Amino acid sequence: MCGIVGYTGPRQAYPIILKGLKRLEYRGYDSSGVALLHEGKLNVYKKKGKVSELEEAMIGKDVVGHLAIGHTRWATHGEPSDRNAHPHTSANGKIAMIHNGIIENYALIKQDLLKKGYTFTSDTDTEVLLNFIEDIQKNNDCTIEEALRIALKRVTGAYCILLIEESNPETIIAARKGSPLVIGIGKGEHFLASDASPIIEYTKEVVYVNDYELAIVKPDELILKNLGNEKITPYITKLDMDLAAIEKGGYEHFMLKEIFEQPSTIFDCLRGRLYAKEGLIKMSGIDENIEHLINANRIMIVACGTSWHAGLVAEYIIEELCRIPVEVEYASEFRYRNPIINKGDVIIAISQSGETADTLVALEKAKENGAFIFGVVNAVGSSIARISNAGAYTHSGPEIGVASTKAFTGQLAVLIMMALSIAKHKKSISDERYSSLLNELEQIPEKVEAILKNSENIKEISEKYKNASDFLFLGRGYNFPIALEGALKLKEISYIHAEGYPAAEMKHGPIALVDENLPVVFIATKDPYHEKIVSNMQEIKARKGKIISIVNEDDMISRELSNDFFSIPITDEITAPLLTVIPLQLMSYYVGISKGIDVDKPRNLAKSVTVE
Ligand code: F6R
Repeated sequence: MCGIVGYTGPRQAYPIILKGLKRLEYRGYDSSGVALLHEGKLNVYKKKGKVSELEEAMIGKDVVGHLAIGHTRWATHGEPSDRNAHPHTSANGKIAMIHNGIIENYALIKQDLLKKGYTFTSDTDTEVLLNFIEDIQKNNDCTIEEALRIALKRVTGAYCILLIEESNPETIIAARKGSPLVIGIGKGEHFLASDASPIIEYTKEVVYVNDYELAIVKPDELILKNLGNEKITPYITKLDMDLAAIEKGGYEHFMLKEIFEQPSTIFDCLRGRLYAKEGLIKMSGIDENIEHLINANRIMIVACGTSWHAGLVAEYIIEELCRIPVEVEYASEFRYRNPIINKGDVIIAISQSGETADTLVALEKAKENGAFIFGVVNAVGSSIARISNAGAYTHSGPEIGVASTKAFTGQLAVLIMMALSIAKHKKSISDERYSSLLNELEQIPEKVEAILKNSENIKEISEKYKNASDFLFLGRGYNFPIALEGALKLKEISYIHAEGYPAAEMKHGPIALVDENLPVVFIATKDPYHEKIVSNMQEIKARKGKIISIVNEDDMISRELSNDFFSIPITDEITAPLLTVIPLQLMSYYVGISKGIDVDKPRNLAKSVTVE
């Protein structure tokens, strides 16, 4: 949510900032801007809209400078506009700042500043914080670093900020709490960004800045301090990512690339962990903490959005295989109610970005209460990964399309392996079922590949229904969360209203929506209750609803009941969600592009939701 990037060093900064902003655009695309410092003068440019609009507006402008900061915004305080775009400049015009996060007590601070005669040119909390810093500097006659430290002790909320000042031509000062910051270490140069994607082509050595830390960054010096002004030794890690992973690689959109990457991302997730022939699952995060997991009285799963849907699938699987009670919570609800968390409870946190504010704060709360946190995270080194007591990465690679696709199947693969491993240790699964599921899981990448080979079919179906104003998605058992996920994907990528329901629950209300204009997507792969979902299809057909079904290759009955169907390979009901979700991802993609929507950056959304 908002992308920030900074550079100080011998190169011209603007091309680095611009490229970095393009890489970070998935984090927000309401407006963007850049501040360059050259010969003691600040040049600030900003523009409503996508980074390409800023780029155009910059043609012919003075973009010289070896130090710069840039920002791509997802609006919180103040509508998307030129004046609310970052960087903001302080009242005396000498400091420029960019910010990712929310300053919650900005209103009180603003009141004080207004009384002192400050005026504001934007509606943002960022400008309030900036003038607060300027005011502290003036009153205390101190350095900007000292003023920032004092200011940060008084603000509440979340931030990652970068600031530069005219009198300090080589230095970027950065601080973080709750919003990510990575610093890339080059030879006589430093790169700062919300994630490693703007940095990767220049250096693989990075430092992840922690909450409540300040970084004073010069071309050849990086000083980390805490808010108490004590120095901290930077911990340098090596990035395990290559440039190809963050480029489109010939696909029209990142979303399509990421959907088509799933055979390999699921394979990478299973690789070195799943040994079907030997009947083994080796996952250090699980093996080293198996006592915690098998002795859990209860597992609570905390997540948001698509990750929450993965949690719902996991609830069904863990209860079935491990016989441990599971509750799945929206992180945003969990953190504000008064949940009963007992020592020894296991919390599974699921997050692609590892930075989702609601999930992060929910975990902090659970940890304070003595819960054991197991993180299922995609982004390596992210805040949720670091706060967890143990965990397993999904190894899906960078996910850039705003709609989560490959991260979801990575989450499912990890959660299934986790359930199988716990069940095996608990002896709550028979040897036969265990080996059969290991075999099924091993075959998933090639079955996903087979589905993708038929993507043209789903494209044709999508074309047919693209003008519908509403969709209903229905599924039972393990496929009920996939119905929710199908509806969410369609909403966010095509702006068509869609709802997901357990198939039988449809009779308790949503059936009133059914008429000849309503497409109803049934996720109807075979399971022990298959004939129940067939009856639900009959009920929709009787009311003239249009049935689109995701069915197994041998399911003639469902096919006959459907107006359109998409066949997928047969697998166990537990591994079925890994397959059934793929055509739904494709359908939302094709409907979205046929309506001319920028599916990688749909309106109002951002990839990494670092504000509540
Ligand atoms: C939907 C989507 C969101 C995220 C949600 C949680 O396609 O991407 O619903 O799943 O914002 O994000 P993470 O998984 O990063 O915590």
